[in-house]
Amino acid sequence: MPEPTVSTASAAAPAPASDSVTVVIDGKTHQFPKGTNLLEACNEAGANVPYFCYHPGLSSPAVCRQCLVDVKGQPKPVPSCYTPVADKMEVTTASPRVLDVRRQMLEFTLLNHPIDCPICDKAGECTLQKHYFDWDAKYTRNDGIKVKKDKVVDLGKHIVLDQERCILCTRCIRTCEEVAKSPDLTMAQRGDHEVLTTAPGRRLDNPYSLNTVDVCPVGALTAKDFRFAMRAWELYATPSVCPGCATGCNVEVHASRDKVYRLVPRANPSVNKFWMCDEGRFTYKRLHQERTVVPLSGGLPVEWDRALEDAAKKLRASLDKGTGSVGVVFNAQSTNEDLYALAKLAFDHLKIDKAYLAGYDEGWHDDILVSADKNPNTAGAKGIAGGRLRSLVDLSRDLKSKAVSALLVLGEHGVLGANAAALPLGNLDGLVVAASHNGPLTEAAHVVLPLADWAECDGTFTNKLGMVQRIRAALPPPGDALPGWDILAHLAHKMGIAMDYTTAKQVFHEAREKLGFMRGADWGRPFLPVQLRFANTRG
Ligand code: SF4
Ligand code: SF4
Ligand code: FES
Repeated sequence: MPEPTVSTASAAAPAPASDSVTVVIDGKTHQFPKGTNLLEACNEAGANVPYFCYHPGLSSPAVCRQCLVDVKGQPKPVPSCYTPVADKMEVTTASPRVLDVRRQMLEFTLLNHPIDCPICDKAGECTLQKHYFDWDAKYTRNDGIKVKKDKVVDLGKHIVLDQERCILCTRCIRTCEEVAKSPDLTMAQRGDHEVLTTAPGRRLDNPYSLNTVDVCPVGALTAKDFRFAMRAWELYATPSVCPGCATGCNVEVHASRDKVYRLVPRANPSVNKFWMCDEGRFTYKRLHQERTVVPLSGGLPVEWDRALEDAAKKLRASLDKGTGSVGVVFNAQSTNEDLYALAKLAFDHLKIDKAYLAGYDEGWHDDILVSADKNPNTAGAKGIAGGRLRSLVDLSRDLKSKAVSALLVLGEHGVLGANAAALPLGNLDGLVVAASHNGPLTEAAHVVLPLADWAECDGTFTNKLGMVQRIRAALPPPGDALPGWDILAHLAHKMGIAMDYTTAKQVFHEAREKLGFMRGADWGRPFLPVQLRFANTRG
């Protein structure tokens, strides 16, 4: 939403532009573009109007009546989420009347609510808790028996519903219909027996189903994956980018004590709006599986210094036979900074000309968010290595013909890592692999250098639209693992080459100077992970 211009009511109001309207909110005059939603206008103006059913990415049905405000000339308070601003509108957001009716609506919403916050996954980030503490904070007047509804209702592959906690806001229904284009949910019954349920013959199994958990303002919809796993206030949120495909959805990594518990979407109107796919959410799982944590040489754990020395020797021995006998493997899962450091070492310093691109194979896609390219940085790899990148089929051919006698691999993610056992890697005199995960490739390697994965390092990915987006370390790498650019700088040093990088930011700035596609990209400001308690990031 555009920034409003602010002046006091007593001051002369600025002349409105023809496409904007002048609105007085709580005594101050503001200008907003025509058609601006009144709730958004009030909150832009700093009024803090509460809401449940409104969501900026969905239509507004005005069912919760929590956002009521007084508009001069209107006999009753109006739902601001359903009202566009109009010229010369005068709005009061906190009159005794609106505070009272909002409190009454809140009491009505809580009438049959089970108040099982101590065992609710949403506690600590629940909008109902927050509004109760902010606007009501009174004991219940209901001493009767509450209406009982079903608990632990299995709605689909990833989601469980607690019908008693549902406040009937319909956000989840609209998310299915308007975002996933899959009308899986509906309301059934009437009055205080109304319940959310699946539509006849349907399950909540669409590829965007977990967005319903994000938009649910209370703990009615919970993700099976996160249920009872961690309290919200123990989580810290770090802004990053999903590594699941070339769309590059903006996400928050929610982690605690060196473990990621979930990925949730972060709003970016140019990329993913407010959403992400279910598949992308589960990319965090591999961060904690089969990790490479110590350097290995000849299959045995060694110190970093020894591993780098052995790697440098293997590469030098083959380079001495001719630069054409050494190949390098780029990975479309690596950051621009790691790939840039690899290109600089391989192409500029070692004059290697055999380069291959690895990563995950293409998969399913749709017209909503999901891309067929299952790598977050194919565009970055191609932009950095130019036309020099060849396919893994070419690598297989070069291995069979012994056209390469040594290989330096950055990142094992994808086809190469999974199918390494089928390649004639035994033909190599030197196989040096910087890897974040153990597997057939690390088993075949002469030297393994433990590599930080995406959630453990700072850097950037370039999505399929060419947008260079920042990722941030949400947790430290496991064991002795290091970011790729750091490993390559140390390896270069062992080979007598000066690549004196000390931070990813330094690599980013150098890459931005040299690479056209990174021009204009921004590293952003330093960021400390945010503790989630009522951080208002979800719901
Ligand atoms: S389950 Fe949540 S999002 Fe869906 S209607 Fe109920 S409260 Fe709203
Ligand atoms: S669409 Fe792609 S980038 Fe977005 S969440 Fe899914 S896998 Fe991740
Ligand atoms: S937010 Fe306006 S009626 Fe629900």
